Amino acid sequence: MNTDLIKYYHDRAAEYEKVYALPERQEDLATATALLKKVFSGKEVFEIACGTGFWTERIAETAASVFATDINQSVIDVAEKKSYPNAKVAFAVADLFDYQTPKPYESLFAGFIWSHILLQDLDRFICTAAGFVAPGGRLVLMDNNYVEGSNYPLSQQDEAGNTFQTRKLEDGSSHLVLKNFPTEFFLRESWKDIVTNIEFFDLKYYWILVCNLPHSRS
Ligand SMILES: C[S@@+](CC[C@H](N)C(=O)[O-])C[C@H]1O[C@@H](n2cnc3c(N)ncnc32)[C@H](O)[C@@H]1O
Repeated sequence: MNTDLIKYYHDRAAEYEKVYALPERQEDLATATALLKKVFSGKEVFEIACGTGFWTERIAETAASVFATDINQSVIDVAEKKSYPNAKVAFAVADLFDYQTPKPYESLFAGFIWSHILLQDLDRFICTAAGFVAPGGRLVLMDNNYVEGSNYPLSQQDEAGNTFQTRKLEDGSSHLVLKNFPTEFFLRESWKDIVTNIEFFDLKYYWILVCNLPHSRS
C-alpha cells in the first residue's frame, strides 16, 4: 500500500476535481463559494496547497490577486489551464513548510490541507501559516466534516490519534491517506493563542474557519 501523501496527490491530479461533482455536496459548495468570495473580496491572497485551483478560480473572481502554491507540479499544471478573468493569479510549486514569502500577505487561504497534517505537526503548521500573513491580516481554512457514506471510511488510527483512509485511484493503485477530522473545539483551541475574531462555519460536509492575526503582537 502506498503511504506517500504527496505522491498520492501528484498521481490524482487529473481526477482530483471529481470530488467536487458529488451531488450531495453541491449546496455546501455554493455556500462556501459565496463565503470565500465575500471574505477575500478586494484582498491580496496567498494560497497554500492550492491543488488543481478549484478554490483559486472562485476566490479570484473577487480577490485583487491570488498567489497560489502547491508542492506538486502536476496539480499546478491543471490549475494553470483554467482562466482567471477578474484577478491577477500566479502559481508556483512550493512546499509550504519550506517557503519564504517575499513579504507577508494581506490574507491566506488553506483549503483541505489541515486534515493532511499530522497532529504532532499542527503547531508547526499554525506558526508557518500565520507567518505568511501581515499583522491584522486574515486567515481562512476549510476542510471536510466526516459524513458517513460520503467520505471514505476511516481504516486506521495511529498512537497519536491520526486517522487514515484507504483510497483507490483510477489506475487501480491503493493509498493509505492521512485524513484527520477535527472538532470545532479542537480547531478553536489550536488557534486561540495566535489569532483573534475566530468565526466558525459548520456546514454539513465542510467546516470553514475565518480569523485574523492581531494588529500587534503582545
Ligand atoms: C486535498 S488537496 C487540496 C487541494 C485544494 N486546496 C483544494 O481544496 O481543492 C491537498 C493538496 O495539498 C498539497 N500538499 C501536500 N503537502 C503539501 C506541502 N507540504 N506543501 C504544499 N502543498 C502540499 C497536495 O499536493 C494537494 O494538492
